[in-house]
Amino acid sequence: MAKKLWDGRFTEATDAFVEAFTASIEFDQVLAPYDIQGSIAHASMLEKVGIISSNELGLINAGLEEIDREIAAGTFPWSISLEDVHMNIESALTDRIGNVGKTLHTGRSRNDQVATDIRLYLRAQIDAILEKIVRLQSGILDLAEAHTQTIMPGLTHLQVAQPIVFGHHLMAWFEMIDRDYQRLVDCRRRVNVMPLGSAALAGTSFPIDRQHTARLLGFDQISANSLDAVSDRDFAIEFSAAASILMMHLSRWSEELVLWASPRFGYIDLPDRFCTGSSIMPQKKNPDVPELVRGKSGRVFGALMTLLTIMKSQPLAYNKDNQEDKEPLFDTVNTLLNCLTAFADMIPAIVPIKAEMENAALQGYATATDLADYLVVKGTPFRDAHDVVGRLVNLGIRKGQDLAALSLAEMQAESDIIEADVFAVLTLQGSVDARNHPGGTAPAQVEIAIREARLSLSTRIMD
Ligand code: ARG
Repeated sequence: MAKKLWDGRFTEATDAFVEAFTASIEFDQVLAPYDIQGSIAHASMLEKVGIISSNELGLINAGLEEIDREIAAGTFPWSISLEDVHMNIESALTDRIGNVGKTLHTGRSRNDQVATDIRLYLRAQIDAILEKIVRLQSGILDLAEAHTQTIMPGLTHLQVAQPIVFGHHLMAWFEMIDRDYQRLVDCRRRVNVMPLGSAALAGTSFPIDRQHTARLLGFDQISANSLDAVSDRDFAIEFSAAASILMMHLSRWSEELVLWASPRFGYIDLPDRFCTGSSIMPQKKNPDVPELVRGKSGRVFGALMTLLTIMKSQPLAYNKDNQEDKEPLFDTVNTLLNCLTAFADMIPAIVPIKAEMENAALQGYATATDLADYLVVKGTPFRDAHDVVGRLVNLGIRKGQDLAALSLAEMQAESDIIEADVFAVLTLQGSVDARNHPGGTAPAQVEIAIREARLSLSTRIMD
């Protein structure tokens, strides 16, 4: 069994169950590359301020790089009796390079070490997530561009409300995920602060140069208070909150895709490669990918609640409770990366069934508001116009006809200011074209919105 790095004051071995219960190595090995990156920077700083020699630094770096390669290759022997990723790596370093390995932990504690590791990990993951969001966004734009003229019913209360173009609907998704992108960019600023140098809780008596370490690790700032830096995980909670909002959005879209792929709607076909079949019903083609994304929102929301609860009763400074931050955080990151990959692949591959969309817009009196607006333009107060159109809709329902199929005489019986020009207003095209202002569904406006979105996306990729 490996020698524990802290057992000097102990008189008996750790209980076997307690050893397994308190260990985190099974899950915190994910942090290994960041732990090594942090250690190399810390050692370079120790050398710069004269605590270790350049010869010693060379040995430490070579040892850590060898360990890094072994971990990446999957051949590193993780030991549960060494508890966590930090002590596994430090102990392996001393095994390999001898006593010099024991100098690495000078001026450092696992408390500032783990806080630094998580921040390095999360920064890298946020960058990977942002990249996937941009890929998804550009897929949305491609599809939207092809469908600025494709008419579908816009719904409120899941009932036909007014005609819109499919590109406009897609751009609503674009906007939602764009705010998710901004939230993560903002969160990254608070993640990218270096706790290292806080040591256990109070700082260290060694003449460390924290700015130097921060520069080496690409941190924007160093933390201002050692107690705060080793203990708070608000940056992870903030990430988890942004992740939850993103998953809430993906879940909403998933719900729409599932509905639209159902023959009751029939608005879209999802290519076979994004669907699966049934083991018993040969005819089935199920939209499993959006269903699963919708379902996975649950674990991400749960992780947010877990992290908040882990943090809420902790007195300053570090407590072992914080070891529980890792699994929910890692699970959230993995879930986001997977769901975004699924969406980025699937969204541009959606096949809209234009005829079904348009047909659905022709049912449900989608242009009723246009008729009311027409009456207002001709001098009828809106409330009266609403009433007139309500009666005409009622007539349509009784006759089983859309508004545009009523005769001019039938309409004039409700309001004598209606003239033959009304029929242009009652078309789906007339309805969408009329909403011609920034943010509206007129194809001309949707084209502008797509162009502007493309522009902002292109500057983003260049950043
Ligand atoms: N595995 C621990 C964690 O994840 C590392 C820090 C342990 N510090 C301590 N004083 N026990 O939080």
